[in-house]
Amino acid sequence: MEGATVLVTGAGIGLGAATAVALGEAGYRVIVTDILNEEGEGVAAHIRAQGGAATFMFLDVTDTAAVSALIATVEAQYGAIYGLVLNAGIARTLPLSTLTDDEWDETINVNLKGMVRVLRAAAPSMRAAHSGAVVCLSSIVGSLLGWPEHIPYGASKGGVAGLVRSAALELAADGVRVNGIAPGVIRSAQTLDPVNSLGEEGLAAFAETVPLGRVGNPEDIADVAVFLLSDKARYLTGQVLAVDGGTTISL
Ligand SMILES: NC(=O)c1ccc[n+]([C@@H]2O[C@H](COP(=O)([O-])OP(=O)(O)OC[C@H]3O[C@@H](n4cnc5c(N)ncnc54)[C@H](O)[C@@H]3O)[C@@H](O)[C@H]2O)c1
Repeated sequence: MEGATVLVTGAGIGLGAATAVALGEAGYRVIVTDILNEEGEGVAAHIRAQGGAATFMFLDVTDTAAVSALIATVEAQYGAIYGLVLNAGIARTLPLSTLTDDEWDETINVNLKGMVRVLRAAAPSMRAAHSGAVVCLSSIVGSLLGWPEHIPYGASKGGVAGLVRSAALELAADGVRVNGIAPGVIRSAQTLDPVNSLGEEGLAAFAETVPLGRVGNPEDIADVAVFLLSDKARYLTGQVLAVDGGTTISL
């Protein structure tokens, strides 16, 4: 895998940033993408400072033309992409009583269609190379549990689990594996937001319920993503792994 190219979406902060850094440490060439320019540049610079190879490129996963153009640019520069970490996502508190079509569309557009856009653009050269692995960020919400006032989020993340299984079958014959991670509650900007998620106090309270005794750190997810992309996971495809400190087996 030394020098193979992996592209990570939403890699400026949180789980995506931790995964990009872990991939850099593992010897991959990391294409750090995000709509957060400064943060994304910072992650790429950090990887390079540690002796790794990384480039930041602005990418909004809701822009089909931009996704296709970026994939073409990366392929022209570095050859076929080996791996994708489809991580960009948003979580919004959206009670059913006031949910608008635009709000529903926004979450689905980023969390679900955003993944398909990148996968669709990168898949032809991955299939031609007969080698590749994809990791999609689902959630225990949607794939295994519910979350009140977050129907669009839960639907998008349940959709990701379905995407993983179907894409895994479609690409298996061409040597491309597709898996998902369903994180439990992980400390990040998303979960620290008290309006759209738990906030600091909510995280502390939730930690009490987790069998392993704490909420997760972004690195807890990053290490699993690196494993799923690696040859150590060579016989693993179409699975969505709950990485949640035991939350979903304890309820
Ligand atoms: N933190 C958790 O507890 C948790 C749990 C389950 C699943 N997840 C999922 O893991 C992923 C990362 O979560 P996080 O906690 O790091 O979130 P975060 O909010 O901290 O980071 C999300 C990243 O996605 C990027 N992003 C948002 N819209 C984008 C767009 N249109 N195009 C490109 N990038 C965009 C943001 O700029 C940011 O870098 C998300 O898909 C999230 O739903 C997180």
